[in-house]
Amino acid sequence: MEGQVRVESLSKTYISKQRKGLFKAERKEVPALTEVSLEIKPGEVFGLLGPNGAGKTTLIKCLTTLLLPSSGSAWVNGYQLTREDDAIRASVGCMLMGERGLYWKLTGRENLLFFGALYHLLPAERKRRAEAIIERLNLGEYIDRAVETYSSGQKMKLAFGKALINDAPILVLDEPTNTLDVPSARELRGTVRELNQEGKTIIYTTHIMSEAETLCDRVAIIDRGRVIALGDVPQLKQSLPRDGVIRLEGVISNNAVRAAQQLPGVKHVALAAANGHSQMTVVAADQAGVLPRLVETLGAHGAVLQKIAPEEVTLEDVFIAHTGRTLADDTRIK
Ligand SMILES: Nc1ncnc2c1ncn2[C@@H]1O[C@H](COP(=O)(O)OP(=O)(O)OP(=O)(O)O)[C@@H](O)[C@H]1O
Ligand SMILES: [Mg+2]
Repeated sequence: MEGQVRVESLSKTYISKQRKGLFKAERKEVPALTEVSLEIKPGEVFGLLGPNGAGKTTLIKCLTTLLLPSSGSAWVNGYQLTREDDAIRASVGCMLMGERGLYWKLTGRENLLFFGALYHLLPAERKRRAEAIIERLNLGEYIDRAVETYSSGQKMKLAFGKALINDAPILVLDEPTNTLDVPSARELRGTVRELNQEGKTIIYTTHIMSEAETLCDRVAIIDRGRVIALGDVPQLKQSLPRDGVIRLEGVISNNAVRAAQQLPGVKHVALAAANGHSQMTVVAADQAGVLPRLVETLGAHGAVLQKIAPEEVTLEDVFIAHTGRTLADDTRIK
């Protein structure tokens, strides 16, 4: 099947100025995407999962014609990037930058109508679509107020509505649940599913593993500008075939982590710490065999363990197995 979106060896390097003292600046190259290739099928929810700074937004900006890639090619809805950008823009409804993509002095309704006009919709059609969006997303209560008076969750919902105004076959959503509370995020994911069932292809970026896991048909895991794993969720999990995952919680020092890393059979160790309490994830070739030695070694290095649980593999474990880091780590190039 011909992909609805096809990306071939796409790379993007930002050139930025790095301050050196008060008057000097040095030119610095930031490789945000390196040789990214992927294909998105019509009618699927495709997730781009990766930590902060992975390159998700950069990829989305390239595919929606907002950024010029440094090299490589891409086709969106059959149209070639950089050659047929107008047709691409008409093929994509896009929620980027969340609330910052709205005009705050205008009301919500005026925003929808304004963006409808940018897509050359006739006034009656603009009005009809805006009404349908207001009803679908339940925006009625605040839609005639200036956006600057909205709560951040209300702004995010309107930004989502704006992505629907051109009724495009492909919907691109960049971390759309950012700043939403748990029920609103769930509601938004429900609407995304409905839109998908109505036939829209969805590209959905997130750094939240569980969100990608519940919503997406297929996921590309991106790290430091590269696709490090791609497939449907069960496939990705099975890509760690005989590896098991052990989760340990307690007070675990860096020394103890280093000792655990040296144990035979241990492939990767990742540690997430908050308030002196740590959660350690160990990917091991032979879970049952490694566990007693692991507990002993950690104890010998002063760790106080409160919980030990062999667990099912999650998408986060796939990420850890490829990178040795958790998704919470910030990989932005400093
Ligand atoms: N305009 C820019 N100039 C220089 N570097 C940039 C620019 N925009 C992004 N970058 C860098 O490119 C890399 C990828 O950034 P990008 O915004 O695509 O990541 P992301 O996966 O969307 O992260 P997040 O989850 O934080 O939104 C980062 O290292 C970032 O610092
Ligand atoms: Mg981003």
